[in-house]
Amino acid sequence: MDKTIDATINTAIDTASGDQDIPTPDFYDYPWTPLSSAETDGRFARLTWSDGVELSAYVLWLRENAVGNGGVDLSTREGLIDPVELTNDIAITSLEVSASGSLIVEFAPDGVRSHYHPGWLRHVADGNHRATSWLPAPKTWTTESMSEPPTHDGSTVLTDEAVFGQWLDDLVRFGLARLRGCPLDHDFNALLASKIGAVRDTNFGPIWDVVADITLAGSDETNSTANTNLRLGPHTDLPTRETPPGFQFLHCVQNNAAGGHSTMADGAAVVEAIQREHPEHYEALTTLNWIFFNRGPGIDHRWSGPFIDHGVEGAPLTLRAFYPVRGFPDMAPEDQPRAYEAMRCFSEMAASTRFQIDYPFVPGDLVGFDNRRILHGRDSFDSGGTRHLRGMYIDHDEIRSTARVVSRRLATQSRQHNHRFHERSAL
Ligand SMILES: [Fe+2]
Repeated sequence: MDKTIDATINTAIDTASGDQDIPTPDFYDYPWTPLSSAETDGRFARLTWSDGVELSAYVLWLRENAVGNGGVDLSTREGLIDPVELTNDIAITSLEVSASGSLIVEFAPDGVRSHYHPGWLRHVADGNHRATSWLPAPKTWTTESMSEPPTHDGSTVLTDEAVFGQWLDDLVRFGLARLRGCPLDHDFNALLASKIGAVRDTNFGPIWDVVADITLAGSDETNSTANTNLRLGPHTDLPTRETPPGFQFLHCVQNNAAGGHSTMADGAAVVEAIQREHPEHYEALTTLNWIFFNRGPGIDHRWSGPFIDHGVEGAPLTLRAFYPVRGFPDMAPEDQPRAYEAMRCFSEMAASTRFQIDYPFVPGDLVGFDNRRILHGRDSFDSGGTRHLRGMYIDHDEIRSTARVVSRRLATQSRQHNHRFHERSAL
């Protein structure tokens, strides 16, 4: 570590005016939650708050989170220390809680003295640094608990942060949320994406059209069953990719066709039920792989994976369920009969009235859903006419990041509002 730089910045922090100015290793606003005590054995700082919450902070973790003291860069708020420099001769030589409740730590061998914001330390003690924090917990649903997608106001979603945040939260919670009353502007998806993050481009293009036209069934004018009047069974898009697109958004700009209701089933609920009621099928669906294949003159996308893919611990569920692009069983011949049986059972459950809701698309509707969790489909059309949807994909990372940012910003505004209210009440 460069001790010259450390010493310079250390002086700047030591002379900072007031505890409340202590920078944190990020750019977020933390409520001031003063520590009540701190003690150390040289390796761990054992921190306690007055409500009994505790945190054991390891010396090397504290050292690399020393903001402006060579640990975290003040301008980028990113870590600066290469792991090879985090040696065991780094120790806590003194530890104190300041008069206002922040933590002050002095380290050997470089003598760096660093201040830590107690609200930042508290958010770690409370587990709010985890990947799941600032997001609602997923909630599975069936037709007993949901008959229509949770719906929010599409006419204000671009300007009202509370509406935007509630819609994003429902996308994360239920995997399905609708905006109603959106403009019919063909670029509305792009406007919405500009508030969220990068659009996931695919061989369909960044924003694509699904124009269901009764005249296209069986013709060679379309490259997708979606563009015909045929029924589409419950499925997830693009299981042909290592990571299929996270969320899918369908904006209805025209619909004068009869029938063609959208269908949605919560795949997470189907997975729970099949695990409980048909464990042998669950085993086949989670362990036997299929090869999915997008075949086209200029593309050759393929991936092999199980129908139900739980991924690593904490990863979102991925269902690979799209028969038009399921190419080959990637398993021993003797496993194929039970693989087909398990898949048939899963698809029957997903399309049953126990799990699948259906509803019409109204022009101005924009339905978002988790493409890796929710099984979507469409009934066949009863008569002629055109239904025109504009579609796009946005990956989980972007949705979850924006949902966290909006939740945290709304919480900060609410805290500031309450603080001002209490200040006025005290006058
Ligand atoms: Fe689809």
